[in-house]
Amino acid sequence: MPKIIAVANQKGGVGKTTTAVNLAACLAAAEQPTLLVDVDPQANATTGVGVDMRSAKHNIYHALLGQIQTSEIVLSTALPMLQVVPSRRELVGAEIELVDLPDREQRLKTAIQPVIREYAYVLIDCPPSLGFLTLNALVAAHSVLIPLQCEYYALEGLGQILETVRLCRQTLNPLLDVEGILLTMFDGRVNLAGQVAAEVRQHFGQRVFRTVIPRNIRLGEAPSHGKPIILYDIRSAGAEGYLRLAREVIDGAKTRVG
Ligand SMILES: Nc1ncnc2c1ncn2[C@@H]1O[C@H](COP(=O)(O)OP(=O)(O)O)[C@@H](O)[C@H]1O
Ligand SMILES: [Mg+2]
Repeated sequence: MPKIIAVANQKGGVGKTTTAVNLAACLAAAEQPTLLVDVDPQANATTGVGVDMRSAKHNIYHALLGQIQTSEIVLSTALPMLQVVPSRRELVGAEIELVDLPDREQRLKTAIQPVIREYAYVLIDCPPSLGFLTLNALVAAHSVLIPLQCEYYALEGLGQILETVRLCRQTLNPLLDVEGILLTMFDGRVNLAGQVAAEVRQHFGQRVFRTVIPRNIRLGEAPSHGKPIILYDIRSAGAEGYLRLAREVIDGAKTRVG
């Protein structure tokens, strides 16, 4: 069975997609067969691994609505061990259409079930909201990875996502775990970044990844080339960060307790 990790935070622009794409790519580079599942209508994870959906007929939207099998839409990427279940704009409709469907919170779990067996890791990139798409991801996942930008209101947003995880645990997914909180876009020259990072570690201790992802221009450039950072600039500080994160995820319980 693979480890299924949802990358979630209701705030936009905190590094969810960057983390989903690059952690997936680094796991794949470490010869861990990995599936990246894009459940954000913005489809940035899909384009971020170089997939062009303009001429594609189907995507995760059709799989969630039960119109096709997910196996029909699994696509390859430039990395042999990384595949992607793509998203496209029309997924935005699912947020409303799911409401009237039976098992509306279980659709993603059911949809990916037949394709995940051959993978070591499944990473789900969530949209910037706590709607049905994110809920579906939390129900399908074993754990949630929460990227956090080191800025003033970061902790406020963190409370909200942790509360959603807690509610999810009480009802739909009792075994849902917090994989870890990931400090992203860290700029050591900014005092506030250091203060926020220290505060997050003080509050959440072992639940915070040791790895901190630095603010790095190359990470921002890579998506427009349709490449994960390890294919765009392996020597960048961003690549180094995500390679280290992959190592930390693989080592799991060994490096972090609880
Ligand atoms: N560590 C980083 N350094 C520099 N730019 C980053 C970094 N992480 C993300 N970005 C950029 O910031 C923007 C928001 O990141 P993204 O991963 O799309 O956030 P989200 O998916 O949470 O909305 C994107 O343009 C992305 O390329
Ligand atoms: Mg995103």
